[in-house]
Amino acid sequence: MRVVLGVTGCIGAYKAALILRLLQKEGFEIVPVMTSAARRFIGPLTLEKLSGNPVISDLFSDRKASIAHIEVARNSDLLLVAPATANILAKFAGGIADDFLSTLYLSTATPVAVAPAMNVEMWRHPAVQGNLQILRRRGVHVIEPGSGYQACGEFGEGRLAEPEKIREAVLRLLSASRSLSGLQVLVTAGPTVEDLDPVRFISNRSTGKMGYALAGEAALRGAGVVLVSGPTSLDPPAGVERIGVRSASEMREAVLERFESVDVVVKVAAVADFTPEAPAPQKIKKNRSKLDLRLTRTPDILAELGRRKTRQFLVGFAAESENFQENARKKLLDKNLDMVVANDVSGTETGFASDSNQVWILDREGGAESFPVLEKAAVARIVWDRIERARAVMPALKVAE
Ligand code: PMT
Repeated sequence: MRVVLGVTGCIGAYKAALILRLLQKEGFEIVPVMTSAARRFIGPLTLEKLSGNPVISDLFSDRKASIAHIEVARNSDLLLVAPATANILAKFAGGIADDFLSTLYLSTATPVAVAPAMNVEMWRHPAVQGNLQILRRRGVHVIEPGSGYQACGEFGEGRLAEPEKIREAVLRLLSASRSLSGLQVLVTAGPTVEDLDPVRFISNRSTGKMGYALAGEAALRGAGVVLVSGPTSLDPPAGVERIGVRSASEMREAVLERFESVDVVVKVAAVADFTPEAPAPQKIKKNRSKLDLRLTRTPDILAELGRRKTRQFLVGFAAESENFQENARKKLLDKNLDMVVANDVSGTETGFASDSNQVWILDREGGAESFPVLEKAAVARIVWDRIERARAVMPALKVAE
């Protein structure tokens, strides 16, 4: 596999040599591309000798120059820019093509990863954060910078991610790219919102982070992904079709409509179990000392899918605060699931609204694995690894039955 390593002009450019070596050790061929500013921080000869390939910087350096960027774009598997300055991020976001690297970005159809590096104030600037948002939405993988002392003497975020972390991100992007291709996946995420009147509602603390991480990971692995989401403040991950819903009954409708055409369903949404029996058409007046609410049960969407499923692989999430495995296994059996992911929702570090989670994964064959507290993105990778593994043995099990 061939990785284009774009290097831009900042002090972190010296680490490009180390990144290049780490990727080479993984067996990748490296094509170095440097901006003219990068050449002032590190000699191109270093990258040329290490990679065994000439360093490309100039759009017009030789006879074929006007199409060289197209050739490089066609013949590579990943464009990695490390370090990526605020300037190159702005050019990528704005579609400016005034040098080889920015022109290459516009010509490439392969995955793109950027590892930003800059002063902490520059990193925090809304212009930079806005450009990163644009790039993320477009599917560019952002390798988050680290925090610490900076060359300018300040302290904070913006240091180029460690080369090891960049290596891992590249490995993940390249190995994950096709393992779910050809599959249609449906993920539900976020809370549902049950209206009491035109201005008040009952809901829960789900932010959608866990479900969006699962949808994003499935898209990275090449699946066609539909994300049925309750109200959240998150942007949909790249390559994912999001269908916004509000209430449990809207979620049920959206899920059932697509169920026949999907291969895997992962139900992460925190669906309300009760909804007001009769939402008031007008704002409820407060001219009384008490207000009794009558609530009725919502449909259990997952249980309904369990009854209807034919070939679909069904995964539920179980929000638990005690007897994690026992309670989750009961849900797995009651709802006819293939797998259940139990998570501890009693603390503040895991479950609802946090960036991390602690899970147990249980399967139909009685298997149970427990995991430490991990970032939700890492949990998403593990869950998809386990789904892939379980689906791979499913035909054999069916034959054996
Ligand atoms: O969104 P975050 O802030 O990142 O938080 C993530 C999370 C804590 C919401 C998530 O990890 C999680 O635990 N999701 C499941 C929440 C839940 O509703 O759990 P439950 O044990 O009550 O339900 C079990 C399963 O049945 C779930 O897959 C749920 O989607 C489904 N269900 C529940 C009720 C209902 N009426 N219909 C359903 O389909």
